[in-house]
Amino acid sequence: MPPNPQNPFSLHEKVAIVTGSGSGIGAAIAECFAAAGAKVYVAECNEVHGADTVRRITEQDGNASLAVVDVVSESECSAFVRRVLLENAGRCDILVNNAGVGHVGTILSTETADLERLWQVNLRGAYFLSRAVLPAMIERRAGSIINLASVAGITGMESRFAYTISKHAVVGMTRAMAMDHGPTGVRINCICPGRTQTPFVEARLREYADPQEYLKQMVAPHALKRLAQPSEIAAAALYLASDQSAFVTGSAMVVDGGYTAGK
Ligand SMILES: NC(=O)c1ccc[n+]([C@@H]2O[C@H](COP(=O)([O-])OP(=O)(O)OC[C@H]3O[C@@H](n4cnc5c(N)ncnc54)[C@H](O)[C@@H]3O)[C@@H](O)[C@H]2O)c1
Repeated sequence: MPPNPQNPFSLHEKVAIVTGSGSGIGAAIAECFAAAGAKVYVAECNEVHGADTVRRITEQDGNASLAVVDVVSESECSAFVRRVLLENAGRCDILVNNAGVGHVGTILSTETADLERLWQVNLRGAYFLSRAVLPAMIERRAGSIINLASVAGITGMESRFAYTISKHAVVGMTRAMAMDHGPTGVRINCICPGRTQTPFVEARLREYADPQEYLKQMVAPHALKRLAQPSEIAAAALYLASDQSAFVTGSAMVVDGGYTAGK
């Protein structure tokens, strides 16, 4: 569909799933999509946090509903997508695979269980949900899948062995799916944020004896010399979800304040 010149980023009447939207970047994306007119499913394993996002959206007259889903569970993912399709006459226009977890360590300090956990949440969750929504998107010959990768999906990140592997795999999955499903009109992209001020990063800071010193180290590789705000990552997701990005697929869009420019 050609972009609407009156409101080019409108998601009016679109049905969107955003995983991990009880917090941080996912919550910002869910709120941004709802403000753009989408019906948003807040798919989150933390019921309290997910309900908070739904409440904030509905207070702003947006359309959102909560789905308590652990993306690690294939059966929960497929039951959830069945519900979305049933409630929307077979339609799901946008899937944002945002739920993710981190881990600090080199190969020597990363246990098999750590590696498997990151693989399960950061990759398999996106795999289960993409497999579940794709047939409906292909049938309508339209749809946008957006995966949250990271600058660690493009460059090696120190002491983030498991995380770097998982995010490189997210970029690879995005490109593979874009090539396979481009002919059907379904677009698949990923976003590679630089460090973003979310509970994910705040929890990491609290682990250090001198959080301010660690914050300085975190900020240093970014040309803009600050962290991103979740809303700045949500703006990229809105572009990729909207018809304005109709010719964009298979991209790994860096929204990183210049982090990778200096690598
Ligand atoms: N914050 C950053 O600096 C940064 C940078 C680059 C990429 N990212 C990526 O962006 C995404 C969001 O990061 P964030 O900083 O907003 O994280 P966050 O920890 O603030 O939020 C992640 C959300 O995902 C949910 N979640 C975790 N496991 C889940 C599961 N199994 N099923 C369902 N939900 C689950 C959590 O409950 C939480 O609400 C992640 O994929 C992360 O790797 C973050």
